[in-house]
Amino acid sequence: MTDAAPPAYQGPQRVFSGMQPTNGLHLGNYLGALQKFVRLQDQYDCIYCIVDLHAITVGPDPKELTNRCREVAAAYIAAGVDPKKSIVFIQSAVREHTELTWVFNCVARMGWLERMTQFKDKAGKHAERSSVGLFDYPVLQAADILLYKATHVPVGEDQKQHLELSRDIAQKFNNDYGRADFFPLPEPLIQGPGARIMSLRDGSKKMSKSDPSDMTRINMTDDEATILSKIKKATTDPLPVPEAEEGLKGRAEVENLVGIFAAVTERSVADVLAEYGGKGFGVFKPALAEALAAKLSPIAGEMRRLTGDPGALDAILKDGAERARAIAGPIMAEVRDVVGFWRA
Ligand code: TRP
Repeated sequence: MTDAAPPAYQGPQRVFSGMQPTNGLHLGNYLGALQKFVRLQDQYDCIYCIVDLHAITVGPDPKELTNRCREVAAAYIAAGVDPKKSIVFIQSAVREHTELTWVFNCVARMGWLERMTQFKDKAGKHAERSSVGLFDYPVLQAADILLYKATHVPVGEDQKQHLELSRDIAQKFNNDYGRADFFPLPEPLIQGPGARIMSLRDGSKKMSKSDPSDMTRINMTDDEATILSKIKKATTDPLPVPEAEEGLKGRAEVENLVGIFAAVTERSVADVLAEYGGKGFGVFKPALAEALAAKLSPIAGEMRRLTGDPGALDAILKDGAERARAIAGPIMAEVRDVVGFWRA
């Protein structure tokens, strides 16, 4: 056979995703990431990481870093990630992440990284004063994924460019070392509704923990009364809920609320509009608040219980790190062979 297409990656399907160890997780983190992580467990072997190596790219935080990691671990588990089935671990506990990053640093091109919009946004006007780590952030992310030969990566819209970079790195590594099927080219999993959760006050801005106003977001730990008051005060317009999806065009805040309702009740947008179309927000908003509270309150309670017992949480994380190492170790050993590093 001549001119055969390079053999497609034949290995197992595997999901990898990561979240920064931040406190102040909000609805965007839940619907955009956690809820999806939970669902994927039925379909794939999943590895969920808490990326503390990424966290130090923007500054030191030695007193709080571990607790932040624990809080995110608690959120994963409280949301429904089953740490017996899926692997939940802290990135820095598996040293191979940094080792593979170095190899990938020598594969990735400066020009590729210079195009990363997240770096430009985070570095702002003074790129020369940001850490080299911040510039290298997407290479570490590629190493996270490919260290497990993950094939699918649930991420938000904002991480699409980083995923493309991971594919480029995988492809170039495979080409440079003449191993066409060594690394899979990981696919993003970005499905709506809930792909992009916006501020409750401004439908053009992402819901974010760094917004100075707490009224723009629903925190995972907000109680029912707080949720109700935030939703009631959320920006809308004088028109009723539209009857069909076309009616959401140009109404970013309404589209966001309907999207949240659909995501949190695991229904389609069309289905939500079929029920609420033509009704006013005086009806829609309390129903939305109730659905949110019903979803988030038990999760917040479980998060409190889990963070209240750091010993038990650490045991889960230790088990996760061991299982992660059991996959990463042999793959890193293979990479070392492919690259030609000395083997004792
Ligand atoms: N950069 C991702 C974010 O901010 C977090 C992350 C780090 C990640 N490593 C990853 C996501 C690997 C997916 C896969 O959301």
